[in-house]
Formats: sequence, structure tokens, C-alpha cells
Amino acid sequence: MQSLILAGGKGTRLRPLTMHTPKPMVPIANRPFLLYQMELLKRARVSDVILSLSYQPQKIEHKLTDGTDYGVRISYTVEASPLGTAGAYRNAAGLINETTVVFNGDVLTDIDLSDVIAYHREREAVATIVLAPVPNPSDYGLVETDEQGHVRRFVEKPKPEEITCDTINAGIYILEPRVLDYIPEGEPFMFEYEVFPRLLASGEPFFGYVWRDYWRDIGTPASYLQANLDVIAGRVKLLDLPSRERGDKFDETVELDARSVVDPSCTIKAGVRIINSVVGGNCYIEDRARIENSVVRGGTRIGPNATVSGAVVGKSCHIGRMVTVEGAVLGDKSVLTDYSQVGDGN
Ligand code: GDD
Ligand code: MG
Repeated sequence: MQSLILAGGKGTRLRPLTMHTPKPMVPIANRPFLLYQMELLKRARVSDVILSLSYQPQKIEHKLTDGTDYGVRISYTVEASPLGTAGAYRNAAGLINETTVVFNGDVLTDIDLSDVIAYHREREAVATIVLAPVPNPSDYGLVETDEQGHVRRFVEKPKPEEITCDTINAGIYILEPRVLDYIPEGEPFMFEYEVFPRLLASGEPFFGYVWRDYWRDIGTPASYLQANLDVIAGRVKLLDLPSRERGDKFDETVELDARSVVDPSCTIKAGVRIINSVVGGNCYIEDRARIENSVVRGGTRIGPNATVSGAVVGKSCHIGRMVTVEGAVLGDKSVLTDYSQVGDGN
């Protein structure tokens, strides 16, 4: 069993967080997102991972190298220009010789892939898609199945009148190499708009496996923030939670709740309160600042008496004294001068 992670999108909906960090590397609870997906694969004893890249590939390769540090074997394919989801799979054809788990590089879930693989094998499927129920399918690929689990309809980004059920494509597929025959070489091609409808039209054994537990696409700032909060609340049973040890530059009066994950390299001054938040490495948080329900990336400075609430703060920002940031998203290196008020709480 092999795997291919589609990690070549530009992450436009997650801007500004993806301006200097490719989406698959944005940290969740201070760890690159892809580590969660690799853990999921490892658990199902799938240790051969092909990373399919296009946007900022060197940033990903440089960090993950051949995967030894993470207990997997990684090979890379890089597209000169994006080939789309199926084109990226076709582009890796030279490396694919058996059943493959294909993953969108932005879905966070603790599904047991071994169950999906067993389901796929029992039905002798050519393709199995994991389906997740969501309240509003319009941002996803809607998938209708019959009682036996056969896929009956696939509509990417359905219009309101096309919404006939609540199950969507969770971005995880088990594919037999035969699927490659449905994809032309060297041109942009999408599973969602082209391959899946073609599999349906040709009557191939194509199944859906419904997963009702944790699943989330981290591709927008609100969803990215929520994914971080879910992980620190222990709602995603994947990697062990990072250590909550206090660093030696945390003042003893610093109040940290049991959920927050704060990198121990930070300097945190007297009277600071950090509640239900993630704070990256080497931040400098000054006296009586308050951070709640937020993600603050590394290298950021937060001034005295500032409040950061329900926000995502990028790398190396400078937030002045008495500033309030509520429900806002700040790109890397943002500067907010003293007494600024930013976001929907103001
Ligand atoms: N290598 C490569 N090349 N990867 C790509 C390309 C490409 O040209 N285009 C997109 N990807 C990767 C993205 O990096 C991402 O990890 C994944 O493919 C899906 O792309 P998104 O842009 O995030 O798609 P989406 O979220 O709108 O919709 C997709 O995911 C939904 C579930 O989250 C579709 O698969 C929907 O059907 C699905 O419901
Ligand atoms: Mg997505």
C-alpha cells in the first residue's frame, strides 16, 4: 500500500497565513500540518508517502527530507505548473504500482484508514472515497450513495438546488492503479470534475465510506483556528499532545490554562494570562497581556496590557501596548502600534 498527498495548492483561502508558509506546513498546535497526515498513514502501516508539490516545494522538502525523522519514506513529485488533483496523481504514475491512499493535503481527521482499506478490498472497488456529513455541502464535493455504498452522484461545489444529501467528499481516496487510465498525461485534470464523473459513467465499482467522527478541512483562517483549538482540547486522537511544560523564561505569575500549548522558548512576563491558545516559539509576551482562544505564531511580540482574542497572529508580528485584536487574522510581520484596535470585537 502506497500513499500520495496532494500538497500543491496555493492555499489562497488561507491567506495571509500561506504567504510565506505553504498550506501543508502551517502549524497545528506548533507542528507542521503534514505530520498529522503522516501519523494517520503510519497507523494504518502505510509508510511509503509520495508528496505531490507545486507551490513553494523547497520549503516542504527542506523540512521533511526523506521522512526518516518521522518514521515514513517520502518521495517527491514537483509540478512545474499545477496539474490539478488528478493530474498530480497521474504525474506520479512512475512511482505508483499498487493500491494507493490519496489525500488532500489539508484535511485533518483521526479516521482509522485500515478500516477504509478493508472496506475497499471487500468490495473489490476500483475507487473508494471517504465521506463526511457536513451542515452545508456547498464548499465541498457532494456525494450521493445508495444503500450498498455505491457512489451514485458526485457534484463539486454544488449549487443550493443541487444539494440532495449531507455527505461530502472528505478528500481521502483509496484508488487502484486502473484509475490512472482515466487521466490524460501532462495536462491539468481534476478528480472532482472529471475523473469521478467518468468512473460513474463507466459503471466502475466506486464506493463511499462514511466517517461520522472528527473531520475538518483546515483551508480557511476560521477553520485553521478551530483545528488548533480542537487539537489542544484533545478532540483529535492522533499525535500525542505537545508538552505543557513551562519554559524557564515564563514569569511565575503567568496564568496558563491546562489546554494552552505555549512553546517553552518564549519569554512571558508577569501577570500574562493565556487561555485556550497556541503560542509558537520565541514569542515575547509583555506584562499583563491576555491571549485567549487564539493562535500566535513564532517570533511575535505582544506588548503590555494587549488583548488577543479569537485571532490568528502570523509570524514575527509586533503588537503594541494596550492593543486589542479580536476575531482578526494578521499576516506575518504585521505591526500594530500602541492602542490600536483591530477586528470585529471593536
Ligand atoms: N499537487 C497538486 N497540484 N496539488 C493540488 C493541486 C495541484 O494542481 N490543486 C490542489 N491541490 C491540493 C491542495 O493543496 C489541497 O491539499 C487539495 O489538493 C485539495 O484542494 P483544495 O483547493 O483545498 O480543494 P477544496 O478544499 O476546495 O475541495 C476539495 O476538498 C474538499 C474536502 O476538503 C475537493 O476534493 C472537494 O470535493 C472536497 O469535498
Ligand atoms: Mg481544501
